[in-house]
Amino acid sequence: MKNSLLFLLCLFLAYNSSAQSYPPLDGAKWISAASPFDSSGAPCPIFKKNLILRTATLRKAIFYITAHGVYEARINNSRVGQAYFAPGWTPYDKRLLYQTLDVTGLLQGAPQKNAINVTVGDGWYRGHCGTGGFKNNYGRDASLLCKLVLLYGDGTKDSLVSDDTWQVGTGPIRRSDIFFGEFQDTNIPEQDWLPVHTSLTSQINLQPQMHAPVTQQESFTPKRIFTSPKKETIIDFGQNMAGWVKLRVKGHKGDTIRVTHGEALDKDGNIYLLNLRNCDPTDIYVLKGGEVQILEPHFTYHGFRYVRVEGFRPSSENCMAIALHTDLPHSGSFSCSNPLINQLQSNIEWGLNSNLFDVPTDCPQRGERLGWTGDAQVILKTAAFNRDVQKFFEKWLYDLALEQSVNGAVARVNPDAYQFCSRGFKWDVAGWGDAATIVPMGLYDIYEDTAILEHQYASMKAWVKYELARVNPRTFIWSDFTFGDWLAMGPSTDSSFIDQSYLIHSLELFLQAVKILQVSDPDTPAFHEILEQCKRAFRRKFITSEGLLTCNTQTAYLIAIQFHLLPDSLVDRGVQRLVQLIHDNDNHLATGFLGTPFLLPVLSEYGHTDLAYTLLGQRTIPSWLYPITMGATTFWEHWDAILPNGDFSNSSPSHSLNHYAYGAVGDWLYQYVAGIRSLAPGYRRILIAPHPGGDLTWAKGAYHCRYGNILSEWKLNGKTLLMHVEIPPGIEAVIAVPGKERVTVQGGHSYYYTTLVPAG
Ligand code: BGC
Repeated sequence: MKNSLLFLLCLFLAYNSSAQSYPPLDGAKWISAASPFDSSGAPCPIFKKNLILRTATLRKAIFYITAHGVYEARINNSRVGQAYFAPGWTPYDKRLLYQTLDVTGLLQGAPQKNAINVTVGDGWYRGHCGTGGFKNNYGRDASLLCKLVLLYGDGTKDSLVSDDTWQVGTGPIRRSDIFFGEFQDTNIPEQDWLPVHTSLTSQINLQPQMHAPVTQQESFTPKRIFTSPKKETIIDFGQNMAGWVKLRVKGHKGDTIRVTHGEALDKDGNIYLLNLRNCDPTDIYVLKGGEVQILEPHFTYHGFRYVRVEGFRPSSENCMAIALHTDLPHSGSFSCSNPLINQLQSNIEWGLNSNLFDVPTDCPQRGERLGWTGDAQVILKTAAFNRDVQKFFEKWLYDLALEQSVNGAVARVNPDAYQFCSRGFKWDVAGWGDAATIVPMGLYDIYEDTAILEHQYASMKAWVKYELARVNPRTFIWSDFTFGDWLAMGPSTDSSFIDQSYLIHSLELFLQAVKILQVSDPDTPAFHEILEQCKRAFRRKFITSEGLLTCNTQTAYLIAIQFHLLPDSLVDRGVQRLVQLIHDNDNHLATGFLGTPFLLPVLSEYGHTDLAYTLLGQRTIPSWLYPITMGATTFWEHWDAILPNGDFSNSSPSHSLNHYAYGAVGDWLYQYVAGIRSLAPGYRRILIAPHPGGDLTWAKGAYHCRYGNILSEWKLNGKTLLMHVEIPPGIEAVIAVPGKERVTVQGGHSYYYTTLVPAG
């Protein structure tokens, strides 16, 4: 008894000291519904507090706010801020972000009353989350923590915090879940007000949000409204996306509207929902009747292009699809003379739009939507060409480090939603866990972001040590389970080959970081030594006496060439073999998640741009353009997700039709077709080297680096090639006009070239 009193006293002191020592939310208490202690699937709690300001003039009002769950705040019935799904998804037990919002314009001075009202949805915190479909993963409560700081015109200051003076009730949102949609009964008023329960939860894990939030972005009116063979009303919005549908309706009291979201139609023209695993993509609304109502969900989202509507007659005036995603500024653009390749670029962008959703997710529709490490590392470069992703990936890497085990293991998905079904056991595999080294070094290369390298240094090192701990001390070979070259169509690439290659690659990246940061790390000599041993072991085990690889796959050659694992004398041989393997496969790719991003860059780099264009131009399975000929507006997870006859392929029952991984080909469009390449970190020095080819008669790429806009466009006029290049001030560029000597030029100018297309 004495001990438990002591424990309670310590807890109380710890709580109070943590509350005081973590401004700006000091003094605020976590508040939730008191009894019963709600768990997910229940009506969303609404927290309310009325407030009369001390004076008539308010100079500034800043609202600091976060939640267990996802929140939407209103002041005097106006929404606070543009963010959705705040406070975002982080490993909440280790790091919970709070938002800082200027709400000066929403408050009214004394003697008027102000109503503060915050609804909290289940979100990732306690809603269904992760492949296992578990709920209440981070906790069972839906709670709020906030503080309103008021600076008055007379120089005085005041504040209001979440505490036991607030009330909690429920309202129209009867349930809301990211995987299971939202149910609103708009007849139910905000009601059942009760005192809140305050909790002693520490604020030690609070951090300010530094990256852009998820917001409402593009909107689409129906492209086609039709009755399916099953006699259902279907809307085609023309674009696969992550988001929801907003309705403008007038009906009778008690009318029920159901909106069910799907990515595709089946071969007969009915909405296809079988690929959504354990998700119910339906939003339900019960109408109040009488007045026009605007309806949209708040705390769920769907991956969809089509919706089935019940209880409502849709038209292009009364419904629209709204895409939601992290608000990332565009950083580049690519276009060319081939409409299919322009559609490919659009599909790449929509893969990004749909999956850069606070974390880089694998897909936005089925019961998964996780920050898969492998997918994130393969898409990074393409993502950066199209969107400014620096802060976005920085946030994700911070969490990756926090989720890492003491033995350096990286969670396969970040935040680690698997811990809930695997009892905290962590492991990752080659090509996936290597996101721990590839992404920070990638951010350094793209943005010259030394800070991220410094921050991730320990995480990078821990991952490399984790890999090394798995190396056989006798053979210096790592051989473990891998996901292989995930979803490749063709012969599989040996696991051990992938392990060993990524181990060497990660070690090299880590040693580059050591050099860049000029760290004097006593382990460095040993890492250099073991790197050499591992490289020698690679050659012994994976290179035959004829100088070929023991793994006869496109991906094996691509990885070996890209990671410089072949001795110089064997590189040409390797390239020839790769070319042969492509020819033997009827000039089709046979690569999966790991091999695909390297395919076209390696071919172009070693003089086979013609073959790169041939591969890009293919329209049969497996190819990038095949899905486009089938009407796809985003990349599929499987090359053959939908067969030419309209059947869904049997290779997986739950194909995602919106996975961004194969969109990594976008990097080649910018770096080789348009020819914009960085030669020094952060684009301090660049190469402009377009590779005209295929059936293209013009191409244009632009990229906004931190020095300004880089532009490279070319046009063919018969046999004459016209080039227009713009280099921002402050950088140096090497310009490689096809068939001419390279020239070095200074930035701040435009350059124009006319040349004859070199023969061959
Ligand atoms: C995900 C992938 C991921 C893979 C790893 C899948 O379920 O959707 O994108 O990389 O698992 O095996």
